[in-house]
Amino acid sequence: MQNEKGITSVLNERRKFKPSPAFSRLAHVKSMQAYKRLCKAAERNPDAFWASLAKEMDWFSPWKTVCDWNPPFAKWFVGGKMNVAHNCIDRHLIGWRKNKAAIIWEGEPGDVRVLTYQDLYREVCICANALKSQGVKKGDRVSIYLPMIPELAITMLACARIGVTHSIIFGGFSAVALCDRINDASAKIVITSDGGYRKGEIVDLKEKVDEAVLKAPSVQRVVVVRRTGIPVAMKEGRDIWWHDLMKGMPDRCKAEALDSEHPLFILYTSGTTGKPKGVVHSTAGYLLGAMMTSRWVFDLKDTDTYWCTADIGWVTGHSYVVYGILANGGTTVMYEGAPTYPTPGRLWEMVDKYHVNIFYTAPTAIRALMKLGDTWPKQSRLSSLRLLGTVGEPINPTAWTWYHKVIGGGRCPIVDTWWQTETGAIMISPLPGATETKPGSATLPIPGIFPEVVDRDGVKAATNTGGYLVIKRPWPSMLRTVWGDPKRYEKQYWSDFPGCYFTGDGARCDQDGYFWVMGRVDDVMNVSGHRLGTMEIESALVSAPAVAEAAVVGKPDEIKGTAIVAFVTLRSGQQPSDALKAALRAHVEKEIGVIARPDDIRFTENLPKTRSGKIMRRLLRDIAVGRETTGDITTLEDYTILAKLRQDED
Ligand code: PRX
Repeated sequence: MQNEKGITSVLNERRKFKPSPAFSRLAHVKSMQAYKRLCKAAERNPDAFWASLAKEMDWFSPWKTVCDWNPPFAKWFVGGKMNVAHNCIDRHLIGWRKNKAAIIWEGEPGDVRVLTYQDLYREVCICANALKSQGVKKGDRVSIYLPMIPELAITMLACARIGVTHSIIFGGFSAVALCDRINDASAKIVITSDGGYRKGEIVDLKEKVDEAVLKAPSVQRVVVVRRTGIPVAMKEGRDIWWHDLMKGMPDRCKAEALDSEHPLFILYTSGTTGKPKGVVHSTAGYLLGAMMTSRWVFDLKDTDTYWCTADIGWVTGHSYVVYGILANGGTTVMYEGAPTYPTPGRLWEMVDKYHVNIFYTAPTAIRALMKLGDTWPKQSRLSSLRLLGTVGEPINPTAWTWYHKVIGGGRCPIVDTWWQTETGAIMISPLPGATETKPGSATLPIPGIFPEVVDRDGVKAATNTGGYLVIKRPWPSMLRTVWGDPKRYEKQYWSDFPGCYFTGDGARCDQDGYFWVMGRVDDVMNVSGHRLGTMEIESALVSAPAVAEAAVVGKPDEIKGTAIVAFVTLRSGQQPSDALKAALRAHVEKEIGVIARPDDIRFTENLPKTRSGKIMRRLLRDIAVGRETTGDITTLEDYTILAKLRQDED
């Protein structure tokens, strides 16, 4: 919904929830005054603010400059040397945390593994030595395509230990998507498994790796974790079992002293073009952001059992299943399978079983679980919970209220956290002991973060007027570049509003300075809390021989947030049919993955275009939801197309 210079906002939610005095008393940040003090300190002297926090990490050599800002390229803690794995593990071994659970893992079939910090240290060292034995060294890349099993966390920490940049690819991506990502990063090694469990079935990963690696010449070795025991093909000279590789490896491995700016990982995310972007994150700045926000936002304490349900294949899993939590010496729960298997009570049973205190999930999961009814959560006590979090998309007030009442028993604060793959860490969120919350608002900026809502000219938007969400100053956990494509980094994030980072989101700020994020303003959709570029899906559709042209739009969906609708024109001689629809859906699944499969495909003879030939997706969006076209259509080349599209609808 665009108005002249900004965006029109429609949500009007008025309820407020104050933190309880009992919660605030024990919280890391206890009051609004304390929060404001932190913000002021950061505003007055950002370098001193971040430096004082960074001192909490272990350094092998101190930094010389806190922030070297050469817009749009930032370097943080320049000259310093440190190691992320050392900060997440080794430094906790000196005191009592040595025997504390670092990871509590549960497989979908119900098998359990608990790794103490000491155990994790040992496994990570063995794995790091194993990687070294295969010839990878500091500066190389390793691609990881694993289910949610402990080996995933172990591998990422092992890479961090020896300065290898990891690139984790979510298991829901197809062989084609995997191949693109391996090639973009020129990974030497791929780590996978003989599958993982999901909804009682085995998801085959090794077969996809075999297909991907055929066209990935950089890959010298494929390491395979035995998880399910199903037979898999092992290619002589290329593939090796994880357990064979680890055998006999020493259980000590020096943590490399790495430059603060050393690339810790690459994580691919969708953009407005067909090619995924390899978002690059650093060592020191990234860890500082993940560590501090885990403490401030989740109020993480040594006595907490913390559970984030995200897959580590997404940024939420990187920052808030692994790095941020372990950097604080916390206990993180990791679960392999589907949230509703074998029953919709699975998550709630696990909350009771492990006495989970802090629970972090996505609105799409909350909506799906809410739909299944209150009987499931009511079968568990849920009395251990003290804080709830959400991430990935705006949470609608109905889902917020259900989460608050039915899961949180009305006593747990909810932190609605806004951030992105690119920001590395949470940027806008309540601090639970300080901030009064309003359902549907991510509330206020994290201390040291300076977001603003601006109009198209970059001028601060008036109160309660929709506009574009930008970040005005660099921050330690910001992305450093797009892997191999600094020009794209510059153009994508820093060219729309000079001097500011553009998030791609629309938002408004209310009279209390609270941010209400309204969703994407570019051609990117948010499906189940994951970003998907419409271009990517269109490219996949057009790569099918029957298709001439395709336009993809999002349509509001009760559970997924956004459903994918594809308008497709066929090549001459091709007949529309249900079989072709099914084939095209399967084709997109093969090209990108099951997450990108269109929910609905509509065949049309033509697409509405401007006179200069641009597809008018705005009009297609109206048609997809069956609403009257309201905006300007004077640029439309052929008016009959709209009528035709609507007719097809009936
Ligand atoms: O549109 C915003 C939405 O998710 C986008 C970032 O997606 P991704 O990089 O995949 O990372 C998701 C997890 C950090 C944002 O541009 N988004 C994320 N959190 C929220 C949100 N929208 C509204 N409220 C949120 N809390």
